[in-house]
Amino acid sequence: MTWTATLLLSETPARAFINAVDEDPVLSGVACDAVEAARNSWRLALYFETKPKKAERAAIGALAKQVCGNKTPTIQIERLADADWVAKSLESLRPIRVGRFMVHGAHDRAAVRANDIAIEIEANQAFGTGHHGTTAGCLAAIGDLAKRQPINRALDVGTGSGVLAVAIARLFHVPVLATDIDPMAVRIAAENTRVNGVAPLVRTIHADGLSGPAFAQSGSFDLIVANILAKPLVRLAPSIRAHLAPGGAVILSGLLTRQTKRVAGAYRAQGLCLRQTNARGEWQTLIVERGGRL
Ligand SMILES: C[S@@+](CC[C@H](N)C(=O)[O-])C[C@H]1O[C@@H](n2cnc3c(N)ncnc32)[C@H](O)[C@@H]1O
Repeated sequence: MTWTATLLLSETPARAFINAVDEDPVLSGVACDAVEAARNSWRLALYFETKPKKAERAAIGALAKQVCGNKTPTIQIERLADADWVAKSLESLRPIRVGRFMVHGAHDRAAVRANDIAIEIEANQAFGTGHHGTTAGCLAAIGDLAKRQPINRALDVGTGSGVLAVAIARLFHVPVLATDIDPMAVRIAAENTRVNGVAPLVRTIHADGLSGPAFAQSGSFDLIVANILAKPLVRLAPSIRAHLAPGGAVILSGLLTRQTKRVAGAYRAQGLCLRQTNARGEWQTLIVERGGRL
């Protein structure tokens, strides 16, 4: 990949843009990431092997307009030396701390402190470097949960980079099943479990939600984390409930504050109670429990 198209956006349009790329008939399959370059200014980059063609530039412009409305940002197209594009995307990827977790790239290993639970994640095609409010919200919820209850077996639905699966494995030292609908994310997550020394604990599989052979005999989990969007979270409520052990907790993220009622309602309908909410920007993370209290 030697060409990039970059745009500066605020967080919500950047996330909406990334979510829309795979649905776009021209841009589907193009690698895309976003990192926080400054406060509420996200540098979104699309990576191409050759100079983006007219149709690709037009599709980027149309998506930018769709997510930003009238204030369409400038699209910068540039050629990167082959060795530089990864370094370029890492430049602005600062380490992030959430409770005891510190998520960092390899270039920031030296910043790890003695008490940190360090999680090394490189910026690449899979979502989940810890910088997004939903990932950070999940990390905070995982840390909170550890103060309240033991966890014996966990499931991470929509693992992306594998950041949450690694966090759970490193904090609780328990087996984690990590799934993603995107085969590329599954590969990246598997690699990240190796980099972080938890490959023996984390099994990464390709799956849509909680369907497929791995779930037929998986038994139940006492922690399920799902950082996907509100709609799939609602759709998955019955199968998440079916795989949740008594006394177990579910961490839900990827929803906006205004979607809390709808998502919490879907889980309440399954007999699960909302225990905690935690907001980061306009993103909400919920902890719902089986046998918990409202
Ligand atoms: C917002 S990212 C979360 C990544 C990571 N867990 C984190 O918290 O940073 C959502 C991930 O869920 C995956 N995903 C979306 N729908 C899914 C589904 N129905 N089943 C499994 N994975 C899904 C996407 O491919 C993506 O990697």
